[in-house]
Amino acid sequence: MMLLPTFFALSVLSRVGLCKLYEDVSDLPGLHYDFVIAGGGTAGNVVANRLSENQHVSVLVLEAGPSNIGVLESEVPFLSTQMFLDPTYSWNYTTTPIPGFNGRSVLYNRAFILGGCSAHNGMVYTRGAAADFDRYAELSGDARWSWNQLFPYFLKAEKWSPPADQHDTRGQFNPHVHGTNGPISVSLNGFALPFFEGKIIQTTKELPADFPFNLDPNSGNELGVSWVQSTIGGGERSTSATGYFAPKFIQRQNLHVLLHAQVSKLVNATQKKGKPTFGGVEFRYGESFFVAHAAKEIVLSGGVIGSPQILMNSGIGAHSTLSALGIPTILDLPSVGQNASDQPLLILQWALNATSTPTDIVTFDSLRQNATRFAEGLTQWNASRTGPFVDSGDATHLGWARLPRGSPAFGVHADPAAGPDAPHLEFSFVPGGQTPGNSLSIFVVVVSPVSRGSVVINSSDPFAPPLINPGYFSNEWDLLAMRDGISLAERFVSAPAWRGFLGAMTPNLANLSSADLETTIRNTAAPNLHMVGTAGMSARGARYGVVDPDLQVKGAVGLSVIDASVVPIVPAGHTQAVTYAFAERGSDLLKQRWGL
Ligand SMILES: Cc1cc2nc3c(=O)[nH]c(=O)nc-3n(C[C@H](O)[C@H](O)[C@H](O)COP(=O)(O)OP(=O)(O)OC[C@H]3O[C@@H](n4cnc5c(N)ncnc54)[C@H](O)[C@@H]3O)c2cc1C
Ligand SMILES: *[C@@H]1O[C@H](CO)[C@@H](O)[C@H](O)[C@H]1NC(C)=O
Ligand SMILES: *[C@@H]1O[C@H](CO)[C@@H](O)[C@H](O)[C@H]1NC(C)=O
Ligand SMILES: *[C@@H]1O[C@H](CO)[C@@H](O)[C@H](O)[C@H]1NC(C)=O
Ligand SMILES: *[C@@H]1O[C@H](CO)[C@@H](O)[C@H](O)[C@H]1NC(C)=O
Ligand SMILES: *[C@@H]1O[C@H](CO)[C@@H](O)[C@H](O)[C@H]1NC(C)=O
Ligand SMILES: *[C@@H]1O[C@H](CO)[C@@H](O)[C@H](O)[C@H]1NC(C)=O
Ligand SMILES: *[C@@H]1O[C@H](CO)[C@@H](O)[C@H](O)[C@H]1NC(C)=O
Ligand SMILES: *[C@@H]1O[C@H](CO)[C@@H](O)[C@H](O)[C@H]1NC(C)=O
Repeated sequence: MMLLPTFFALSVLSRVGLCKLYEDVSDLPGLHYDFVIAGGGTAGNVVANRLSENQHVSVLVLEAGPSNIGVLESEVPFLSTQMFLDPTYSWNYTTTPIPGFNGRSVLYNRAFILGGCSAHNGMVYTRGAAADFDRYAELSGDARWSWNQLFPYFLKAEKWSPPADQHDTRGQFNPHVHGTNGPISVSLNGFALPFFEGKIIQTTKELPADFPFNLDPNSGNELGVSWVQSTIGGGERSTSATGYFAPKFIQRQNLHVLLHAQVSKLVNATQKKGKPTFGGVEFRYGESFFVAHAAKEIVLSGGVIGSPQILMNSGIGAHSTLSALGIPTILDLPSVGQNASDQPLLILQWALNATSTPTDIVTFDSLRQNATRFAEGLTQWNASRTGPFVDSGDATHLGWARLPRGSPAFGVHADPAAGPDAPHLEFSFVPGGQTPGNSLSIFVVVVSPVSRGSVVINSSDPFAPPLINPGYFSNEWDLLAMRDGISLAERFVSAPAWRGFLGAMTPNLANLSSADLETTIRNTAAPNLHMVGTAGMSARGARYGVVDPDLQVKGAVGLSVIDASVVPIVPAGHTQAVTYAFAERGSDLLKQRWGL
């Protein structure tokens, strides 16, 4: 639909010099702005859009990665796996050896492209439990971070959209909890899998105590099984770049975006009212260094790895870490990079013994395992934005559950969920797998982990990769919760709906001893890539934390962090919706502070 005209418009605009996406630093009109935003990712582009609504302020975004425009694997939802595994658009991070993963180092994907992780993620749209936000309000001492008060900001970012196949969506979501005018499209899947989807819904009827049907998990009440919602509109991925930098926004004369510009650190420190403030943002373009100046405020939106790294490079962090690397401490803030909170994931898979028909493919395996069908799917998407490529090819439904009341997990740690209605576990029901033939996969995720990790610089070279330690399973509670998650997934497939259709399980966990099961979990679990908290928000005057409830760095002046790193504890959900909501509210805080 709209993609080809959009390309056309952009290429015409860039030819007449109106396009404000700068590929070359020498084309940038100047280096003095009111606001400089470090990182053009999920959150940074929201802030840039909202600030530049006021034509009297000038905004510069510095993004290390390339443009998103014309990157087919980012546009086509079904190519999302290919996209996030493509090193061209990745920071290529690897974790330190993770003790809870039996010492394995694993890939920790972060996107290196305008739009950030919104341009390569799985597009799943979930907000979390109401209690997650009420907990943010409590620990920040600011009721405006509560579910009720943040709710309008979820809606502000969102444009609920019809699915690509225009099917009747009644009974598949609750229209009252969605926004209709925001930049980010959200929709239900647009390619039906009647056999597979029918089995999931049938299971909710057969096992209603453990897996009740929930009309909409984004109402604040997640528990149960719901149809998946994704950041997709008209069959295309919707990102902070396609949405907040759509042609009508990026044309603004007061909004400039420089690509291929990697921020090293904040410079030109002076004192204001006895507190440090920074006059410039140093960045590398090619082999040269430049300094961009912010008259009003610097905003760090480099994400959970980038933002704490820039802070530490600039002398803001734990004095002991900085001095060991020879970096002068400007602000001793020991929480920078600490309290990293992310969720461990385990994939269970069963062979699915059923036969596709021309109108009802059992799973997406038939496309992934047949190059001809794969090519046909892409051609259909390209021609009409219909067919199997309009969806991610991952879950059709998500389930959310609590541990059983008597779970052994509660014997080792108090319940870490934000409230009695907040889930501990997520199940993604995925029509496809990694072995030949059709498979059902269930992704089991511990969404309320006790474990915490860290992101710490390892060098005075601002571009050296930091040490990323997500801390998975460092607390026994998380491992015991994963065991309960596996049992619940096995219970799901034990429903009559699946009888006669399921074959071998991979990994085969049946009949494993308790010790062997633990070893298998530690050897096969993976990052869920939902890290938050490395520049965490806390109450004003708290003895820990990196930013105050207004998202300004504690003890500094003219410096904010607005991205997933300020979210203090991972919500029981995926993290892009919370990032958009925090960025929308963070933009309002900036506007209020500067009277815009
Ligand atoms: C593979 C993957 C799949 C995911 N799937 C989902 C999902 O399905 N649903 C969901 O809700 N969430 C998902 N997430 C998580 C979600 O996408 C992120 O939590 C969220 O997008 C983070 O937004 P952010 O603004 O904090 O950071 P980012 O979006 O990462 O933005 C940071 C930006 O800053 C840039 N940057 C960093 N350092 C510098 C520097 N020094 N100088 C200049 N620029 C810099 C980066 O290139 C990037 O563009 C997924 C994440 C990944 C990695
Ligand atoms: C990651 O590796 C790829 C391939 O080597 C490279 O093109 C890309 O620039 C790297 N990313 C970063 C941020 O260095
Ligand atoms: C600002 O910092 C840069 C980089 O360190 C330096 O080259 C420049 O001289 C500084 N400007 C002022 C006014 O101090
Ligand atoms: C981590 O966060 C908790 C609150 O969730 C706080 O009590 C603790 O002090 C924080 N730790 C650090 C190192 O910031
Ligand atoms: C692959 O798909 C094509 C087109 O639908 C079909 O003709 C062919 O038989 C399939 N190949 C296999 C090995 O199933
Ligand atoms: C999509 O269609 C256009 C126009 O017909 C064509 O030029 C392009 O090669 C196609 N791309 C793919 C990936 O099929
Ligand atoms: C951390 O720095 C040390 C010393 O320079 C180096 O030997 C090591 O390889 C670095 N670690 C990582 C993971 O980059
Ligand atoms: C698969 O289905 C066929 C036909 O219904 C049946 O004969 C066969 O036993 C099934 N296989 C498994 C592993 O259930
Ligand atoms: C598990 O053990 C039981 C009893 O010994 C056996 O019948 C069953 O086949 C085993 N299952 C698997 C998957 O090995």
